Amino acid sequence: MARLAIDGGDKVRSRPWPAWPEVSEAKWETEVAPRLKEVYLSRTEGLPNPQARAFEAQWCEYAGVQHATLTSHGTDALMAAVAGALDADGLGRAGEVIVPNYTFIASASAPMALQCGVCFVDVDPDSFNLDPAAVEAAIGPDTVGLVAVHLGGHPADLDALRAIAARRGLKIIEDCAQAHGARHHQTQVGSLGDAGAFSYQSSKNLTSGEGGLVTTQDTETWYRCYAYLNIGRYLGGERWEHPRIGWNYRSNEYAAALLRARFATLDEETDRRDANGAYLGELLAGLGGLTPPRRQPWCGRHAYHLYIMQYDGDAFGGHSRDEFLKALNAEGIACGVGYNKLLSEQEGVQAMAGRYPDRVRAMPCPQTVQIMERSVWFTQNMLLEGRAEMDEIATAVAKIKAAWSG
Ligand SMILES: Cc1ncc(COP(=O)(O)O)c(C=O)c1O
Repeated sequence: MARLAIDGGDKVRSRPWPAWPEVSEAKWETEVAPRLKEVYLSRTEGLPNPQARAFEAQWCEYAGVQHATLTSHGTDALMAAVAGALDADGLGRAGEVIVPNYTFIASASAPMALQCGVCFVDVDPDSFNLDPAAVEAAIGPDTVGLVAVHLGGHPADLDALRAIAARRGLKIIEDCAQAHGARHHQTQVGSLGDAGAFSYQSSKNLTSGEGGLVTTQDTETWYRCYAYLNIGRYLGGERWEHPRIGWNYRSNEYAAALLRARFATLDEETDRRDANGAYLGELLAGLGGLTPPRRQPWCGRHAYHLYIMQYDGDAFGGHSRDEFLKALNAEGIACGVGYNKLLSEQEGVQAMAGRYPDRVRAMPCPQTVQIMERSVWFTQNMLLEGRAEMDEIATAVAKIKAAWSG
């Protein structure tokens, strides 16, 4: 039996995983430099944002969405989406939104910034997204909406969530920060709720270092989103006209130009991640003990920003998840635990609950607790590799399993 790398044996993989984002001198010369130069020489580094407008038009066509506006960050985009969907101005109490308890903190802090209360609910153990039954059970007299996070790039169960929202009069804000190009059935995320938000922060599947995009199908909603992020202006209005109160979360033109350059490869990369994710899933399922992401019937395309697996120590001779992570990392397979605290138990959220007890509710979340105890995460850059690299991952898992269960 092969000696594990953690015990001094040879690693399965000794090359590093590709750094993200992918860069090259050739791409700089042909695709990036000309676009940044164009911005620089035009002296239009901000308003009226022609690069941003061009990227937004590209995104609308790509994603089948009516309206899109670039912002400085994904968190800003999410705030703008809340402002638009709920007609919230950030100054007065805006009702309560339901948020999954297994997500990045911005999914909750963005609605909080708009003076929404938040109610944290359990997620489904297969998709790691909002559990529709938990949502239904959590709806209270103050509930006005829900944040459907497409965690890791797997679309949330929007058929069920939209049915609940329609029946109970709730708005849906899609948090698509991790789900560029993901499809719910054949429809891209960000076009199915009342408003959606993407992030282009440096780890994301499409990035400009920092950046975000708010989307909506509804023109009135879009006016509110746009006004929120552009000091109360309506698009097409006069410069000194401010029909609403808003703030400034506009994008700058260099970021927009970089997004335009990188956008060209997004679709092919998304297909590659999706195909590699499915292939790796078959390999891991065959080994047992490490349950791969369980793609749900409504998932038309998985964006695999994260590859989230569930570890079963019994299949690995009783070794803990943390021991497994150490052993797998030692074999050259980069992995981590991901979110390791219920969002409702983060210190900042607890502090909010202490200061404003009427703003935070948390429902029982037994499934989320289990997921957090068992999760093993890979990141999207690994899935851009070839089948040989997916084979390496499976080989490393099989090697550890053989060493520990024999
Ligand atoms: C699920 C989710 N929502 C929102 C955000 C916020 O995006 P940003 O970091 O661009 O503000 C992120 C980014 O990490 C995220 O993962």
